[in-house]
Amino acid sequence: MDIDLLAPDVFSGDRFLDQLAAVRARPGLTWHPEPDGPGFWVAARYDDVHTVLGDPATFSSREGIRLGGTDEAARLVADRMMVVSDPPRHGRIRRVVGAPFTPAALRLWHDRIVAGVTDLVDEVVEAGAGGPLGALPDEAAGPLVRDAVVRDAVGDLTQRLPNQVICAMMDLPRADWPLIGRLTTDGLDSPDPIDRLDANAEIFGYFADLIHQRRARPGDDLISALLAAGGDLTDDELILNCSGVLTGASETVRYAAAGALLVFAERPELWTALRASPELLPTTVEEILRWTSPGLHALRTVTRPVTVSGSDLLPGERVTAWLCSANRDPAVFPDPDTFRPDRTPNRHLAFGWGPHVCVGARVARLELTALLTALISRVRTIAPAGKPVRSTGNFIHGLTSLPVLLRPA
Ligand code: HEM
Repeated sequence: MDIDLLAPDVFSGDRFLDQLAAVRARPGLTWHPEPDGPGFWVAARYDDVHTVLGDPATFSSREGIRLGGTDEAARLVADRMMVVSDPPRHGRIRRVVGAPFTPAALRLWHDRIVAGVTDLVDEVVEAGAGGPLGALPDEAAGPLVRDAVVRDAVGDLTQRLPNQVICAMMDLPRADWPLIGRLTTDGLDSPDPIDRLDANAEIFGYFADLIHQRRARPGDDLISALLAAGGDLTDDELILNCSGVLTGASETVRYAAAGALLVFAERPELWTALRASPELLPTTVEEILRWTSPGLHALRTVTRPVTVSGSDLLPGERVTAWLCSANRDPAVFPDPDTFRPDRTPNRHLAFGWGPHVCVGARVARLELTALLTALISRVRTIAPAGKPVRSTGNFIHGLTSLPVLLRPA
């Protein structure tokens, strides 16, 4: 099989998992050529991904953490933005940025997050059920679906979900939420690196003003909590890391949620079973994370000669650790290509591993749990209503459109 983990159509066409399965079956790590670059190693098996992410002294984040990033972008933020830093600097930043995400701190936001998600689901289901969005195409209208709601589950729901939660946690003015959502998507997902830099520059400017205001008038919000933790971070570093939290929070959750809805649309018996047994929620959420793995890869740069699974890597070479592939490794997950809501154990790597393991994992789990809880009591069936569309990205990846028919409970 030809492997091309840089080709947009491999991702939009949902062929990347097959390619990665082929890479997993090869001995050692696989060398991947690059038309405009030196090439990179591919770590696709669970154990190899674990090894790479767990050893920051050998596999550095300072030179960038994704394919398609520019050296300049990485240089600007190295050792200043948490995710693009190595120990010991990383630990010092994480003590500040992680402060609002401890279990104790999260208790403060728990109700706000759940209420925000529930309001959003109410809005979507009610607007659809009563209003013009509920109109069904004639041929679809039948006794069974008369009161159904036709939706693009991504545009209407899952894209707004993390935006709503993170903006509420940061206590941003409501009028700014759509702008912040758009800039975050462009800053991460735009195919043009210059557009990404522009969007990120606008976000930095926004946070510069906000930090100034919150320092003058602290509140019970994430930004104020971060400023209170302060540490030795300069204002520029605080701005960069607010932006890092915003980016980390946004695209990942939306893709995980959209992927979950697709599973339930394609396998309605799973939705019926979850509605009947909500105690399956915790294991279902973990399986959604394993199954969707929205963060496909994390990139590292080799700092000293090292051998991984028999492959010799040299300083300066880049290695990509494919989390989505580790999560489908049959050596760790029996029947990995089947979605099993009761999978136990489920030691997936969707949140990464090692010092950079996702700082927002608890928030993400809470958002997905709140979303499913709200849908369980409001939506009886989720049915496909058109062709799902996937993004072309090889970094944070998932569905960009998912037409579904929701039938209110
Ligand atoms: C389904 C949802 C999510 C997934 C799959 C996910 C995945 C990841 C992964 C794989 C990493 C490690 C990156 C690396 O090693 O280079 C990471 C780090 C990070 N995530 Fe998440 N994430 C999610 C949700 C969130 C949320 C909700 C937030 C914030 C509220 C967040 C903020 C961050 C930050 C700031 C980091 C950097 C941590 C560090 O460098 O120490 N993420 N995430």
